[in-house]
Amino acid sequence: MPFCGACQTFESTIAMSNRIRKAVLPVAGLGTRFLPATKSVPKEMLTVVDRPVLQHVVDEAREAGIEHFVFVTGRNKGVIEDHFDIAYELDDTLRQRGKLKEYEALLADLPKAGATSFTRQQSPLGLGHAVWCARDIIGDEPFAVLLPDMITMANGKRKSRCLAQCIEAYEAHGGNIIAVEEVPMDQTHQYGVVSLGADHGHTFEINGMVEKPAKGTAPSNLIISGRYILGPEIFDILEKGERGAGGEIQLTDGMKVLAGSQPFHGVRFDGKTYDCGSKLGFLTANVAFALERPDLAESFRAEIKALSGF
Ligand code: G1P
Repeated sequence: MPFCGACQTFESTIAMSNRIRKAVLPVAGLGTRFLPATKSVPKEMLTVVDRPVLQHVVDEAREAGIEHFVFVTGRNKGVIEDHFDIAYELDDTLRQRGKLKEYEALLADLPKAGATSFTRQQSPLGLGHAVWCARDIIGDEPFAVLLPDMITMANGKRKSRCLAQCIEAYEAHGGNIIAVEEVPMDQTHQYGVVSLGADHGHTFEINGMVEKPAKGTAPSNLIISGRYILGPEIFDILEKGERGAGGEIQLTDGMKVLAGSQPFHGVRFDGKTYDCGSKLGFLTANVAFALERPDLAESFRAEIKALSGF
């Protein structure tokens, strides 16, 4: 094929502008399901093994190629900002005591300077409102959303976490992407639920969605599991501030409107998702992640065996 400098530049400009570089992480929730633990500690900072839940989510986003993290916070969440900054005294003490492995591990987790933004939601008006609060920082480009209650494990055949699989699907189909999980039908009323169009297996066309359907009315058992790729057109829709389930501005309702003019694909995540917004999911995540850790797995398995009497 003859080389065309102008075309190549044009194509690479398009590729650049469509690349998913930024992610929104809504972290303003009050964490009422985890009181009293979350009275003064943000729920996103509770730990799964020795990493805050939110760090697991940022790890997933970084692995998927995200370069800028937009945290939509609220009052009493200042410690999240500190977590993603240098801890000067701690770093200095670790170095002086020769704990270089620990020091380097902290450095490796640190996003680059300027790669984080923090904005405040001010009032708890719903997930759609939280995402809308990030509009100026995201600007006019497609972006990812990661709900920090959900953490995912790369233990499927694809060996990647959920956001990486969503970005792959975005590169194949364009438009908008929603990750989904199967749940028992009697749990669907707790989530957003999608309905299926043409099914390609790992991905499928979405031809409808509903937030928190009344019991027995869900269009499928595929729930919206907290990873999205969205076009910036969602912001003008959310700006209208229309209220949905629970009197809140729902992201699902905004996406439903966007689906009138843009395609949406679902991704059946090949791996495991843990809902750390529920006590059971949080405890299970701790066990599952501990069993994946080479330094803990063997002795922890023995403890579990002893506890459960197997
Ligand atoms: C939110 C979304 C919902 C999604 C759920 C996943 O609901 O609105 O569509 O299924 O997260 O956890 P929330 O948990 O904030 O009620």
